[in-house]
Amino acid sequence: MKTYIVGNWKLNFTVGEASIYLHKLLKTLPNYRDLEVVVAPSALALQPLSLQVDRHKIKLAAQNAFYRDTGAYTGEISFAQLRGMVDFAIIGHSERRYVLREDDKMIAKKVAAAIRNHITPILCIGEIESERAFGETKDVIRDQLIGGLSEVSDDELSKVIIAYEPVWAISSAKSAKLATPDEVGEVVNLIRKTLMDTYGAKASENVPVLFGGSVNASNAGAYLTVPGVNGLLMGASSLILNEFVDIIEIAKRVRA
Ligand code: PGA
Repeated sequence: MKTYIVGNWKLNFTVGEASIYLHKLLKTLPNYRDLEVVVAPSALALQPLSLQVDRHKIKLAAQNAFYRDTGAYTGEISFAQLRGMVDFAIIGHSERRYVLREDDKMIAKKVAAAIRNHITPILCIGEIESERAFGETKDVIRDQLIGGLSEVSDDELSKVIIAYEPVWAISSAKSAKLATPDEVGEVVNLIRKTLMDTYGAKASENVPVLFGGSVNASNAGAYLTVPGVNGLLMGASSLILNEFVDIIEIAKRVRA
């Protein structure tokens, strides 16, 4: 299975800054065969960057899109409009769940819309700090996973990527704590077991599971060696070009 290194730029970089970053990244990176390097710029930058990017080296992801393809939905961008422009879409990120109030039902529709438009959804799931403290992590993970995938058929499961992002470990959290590799391993096992129970062993074994939450060049190696982890999703450290490149290099070494 490929290793995925995904940079989520969130609400950062102007279109010009995004273009300069991409230019430098393209110049630095060779063409890795087993490594999928993905960046998720703001929606505004996707179109120009899609003309600039060399897809052999880097793929683009949307950070979000709406679940209807067309219609009277003022202010929205659809997966249908993004079709051909991006290869991936981050869906269900905790900032959309908790700041923009997206629920599992809406997230499931977005996952289906992405697949319908040939865009690979990166479905983000993860518990908040109090849910972990009250021993609810397993239930939250199962609910978000099964809820988010509720419109995905057995055949379509191979088109999905899951990202485990404990919300308390995301760098923007007030008192972000690092998840230990053991904590990550435990939840990743649960994700794999839930997929297996729901879709069967064959359909579920090829689903990539990524980890995200304050990943940086110092801890990337440890997370990448957790059994069952197939890549990393990062925010803050993907904004620093040198650090992002370091993490890509680490992934190459760890996975060699
Ligand atoms: P972080 O963000 O790497 O800054 O913690 C991860 C994310 O929100 O996807």
